Amino acid sequence: MIDQDVLVIGAGLAGMRAALAAAENGASVAVVTKVYPVRSHSNAAQGGINAALTDRGDKWEDHAYDTVKGSDYLGDQDAIEVMCREAGQEVITMEHMGTIFSRDDAGKLGVRAFGGQRQARTFFVADFTGQALLHVLHEQVLKHKVKVYEEWFVLSLLVEDGECCGAVVMDIRTGAIHVFRAKAVILASGGLGRVFEPSTNALICTGDGMAQAYRVGAPLMDMEMVQYHPTTLKSNGALMSEAARGEGAYLVNALGERFMKKYAPNMMELASRDVVSRSEQTEINEGRGINGCVLLDCRHLGEKKINERLLTIREVAKDFAGVDMVQEPVPIRPGMHYQMGGILTDVDGQTAVPGLYAAGETACVSVHGGNRLGANSLLDTLVFGRRSGVHASDRAKYTKHKNLTDASADNDRQHIRALLDRNGPGEMFGKVRLEMGQTMNQHLAVFRNQQGMETALAKVRELKQRYEKVIVHDKGKTFNTNLIFTLELGFMLDCAEAIVLGALERRESRGAHTRTDMPKRDDENWLKHILIAKTPEEPKVSYKPVVITQWKPQARTY
Ligand code: FUM
Repeated sequence: MIDQDVLVIGAGLAGMRAALAAAENGASVAVVTKVYPVRSHSNAAQGGINAALTDRGDKWEDHAYDTVKGSDYLGDQDAIEVMCREAGQEVITMEHMGTIFSRDDAGKLGVRAFGGQRQARTFFVADFTGQALLHVLHEQVLKHKVKVYEEWFVLSLLVEDGECCGAVVMDIRTGAIHVFRAKAVILASGGLGRVFEPSTNALICTGDGMAQAYRVGAPLMDMEMVQYHPTTLKSNGALMSEAARGEGAYLVNALGERFMKKYAPNMMELASRDVVSRSEQTEINEGRGINGCVLLDCRHLGEKKINERLLTIREVAKDFAGVDMVQEPVPIRPGMHYQMGGILTDVDGQTAVPGLYAAGETACVSVHGGNRLGANSLLDTLVFGRRSGVHASDRAKYTKHKNLTDASADNDRQHIRALLDRNGPGEMFGKVRLEMGQTMNQHLAVFRNQQGMETALAKVRELKQRYEKVIVHDKGKTFNTNLIFTLELGFMLDCAEAIVLGALERRESRGAHTRTDMPKRDDENWLKHILIAKTPEEPKVSYKPVVITQWKPQARTY
């Protein structure tokens, strides 16, 4: 058994920020992560991190209002206020820790414009901001002697007397299964992007944390709110950062028109993501696309600026689409990018299960509501990662370890034994995973309707049954990725079901949830969150009011 005060699951930005805060607060901390920390998906965040700094003439209240409006009024305004008020200090802290942010001509931290915001307030490191932040936090975690269990895979959370008190974890290298005992557990295991196929997300984004929390009784909230990013490569769904449009790139249809003038005459390409993605899809659906896509035109930015600020995506577009954005427009389309929903938490990361915290994309605080603003995700990870780390380590000061033993892992050991003992003809995880992803992308994308979502629900439930029979052909212990991928698929299917159930429940259009059969926002009936909780029978649906502090819902135009 491995003991520590605080166990952090996941080593992306939220996890490492939480671990650092907890260690600074005097706790013994362990981080378990299924990949080497700097390979976490935060690494892929490109465009930047938002903060309103007063010395730029900006106000956190303006950032908060833009976020509330961006969320289509589904974000909880008390949580949004916390995030936006603490944003500036968080960015400055990361700079002081060593993040080399891009600078302006006067040598001050540079900002670029991002979607849905009336002021440029996105701090950035070229187009690899997440990677830069992740490396700095990794250094800090090492400096603070936090023990990191790299390439260890969490099988389940442990709950005793109604409190989360540890986790069962497999060392991927040896296959050995261990009990981790903790006074508080912080889930920071990222999103679920690969429940959809394709996605901008890394293959590791399989919703593990959401499903693990759900299985021990923590409800999931706003799961129907799935963000389709406006600019993903037509060929494989890779992200073309919003930074391109922030730097001035155009979106163009087959007729050569900057079509956003029809949909968002004021903000054009920098309207909020749900608006831009719907506009693109409308152009494509109405025959003004080019083979299922529209074009991202960066040519007028010039090679110097593209190389300075957008070099990563220039390379990605060359490698995967065979297009050099200096010379040609890039074929792009909306693609699954982010899950606004997740494990319901308060602003200190506390879930409904005492002792269990969540932060980052796996959590739903809720600061993104129906639609997240670009560059608010890195901010969310850092602010709520830190707050969770502080609160969890405070809890550890007055909490005793529960009476766990090595036998606490026996259920998971038996489950894995049974899985490996299953033989015979039968399908592997891959086919089920692909069918799930394609189904979700077909029916839960930019536009949805009742019939499509019902088809998706039936399919997900069929896949859940098939999952119970999948065969793991590798029976070994060492780096058994066949087994890990199969276990991940179990988590993904729980998440897929919760998404579809939430989407069917929400009988209106709001933010990223756009129903062609119910196209209007309905504040009278649906200005509320949808929660999905696991029960021994069917998942249970309930509601929670949206917290409104100062911004009453209004019609949303850009
Ligand atoms: O487009 C981007 O660079 C993505 C940023 C984000 O999702 O926050």
